[in-house]
Amino acid sequence: MSQLFLKGFFAVALALGAYSAWAQPKPPADKAPKAGESRPATTNAGDSFDNAHALCIGCHGIPGYKTAYPEVYHVPLIAGQQPGYILSALKAYKSGERSHPTMRGIAASLSEETMKQLADYYGGAGK
Ligand code: HEC
Repeated sequence: MSQLFLKGFFAVALALGAYSAWAQPKPPADKAPKAGESRPATTNAGDSFDNAHALCIGCHGIPGYKTAYPEVYHVPLIAGQQPGYILSALKAYKSGERSHPTMRGIAASLSEETMKQLADYYGGAGK
């Protein structure tokens, strides 16, 4: 008897599970990435100092941190470097003169104004 009750219980639970999976709202079509669209999801710094800075410290703020992509790679410490050097490095990533894929993706989303703010911030940070 209790066996039958349990079977009934599981049947109802399964049916509810199937219904709620079916009833999930679909993502709106305009939010879905289009075929061929390149969207470096983790490298878009957004063009504001705060957003960009929050992203930069993820990699550059941890001494000795190594990124896993595209290979285990030493991340240079940028705090305390000359602001002019940081700025020209960022511009070189944006233009493609420097080819590191992650930094290129990040720099591509930064305006010159934000780059200058970042360069001044990190350039002054080591002093
Ligand atoms: C996903 C990790 C990651 C993030 C996030 C990141 N960087 Fe980098 N960055 C690197 C790596 C790895 C290198 C070394 C690339 C190379 O060898 O060209 C680098 C190099 C640099 C360099 C050149 C340093 C030098 O000594 O030549 C600068 C400047 C720099 N990043 C600034 C920034 C700024 C500013 C941000 C935030 C907008 C940022 N990075 C975000 C990983 C990252």
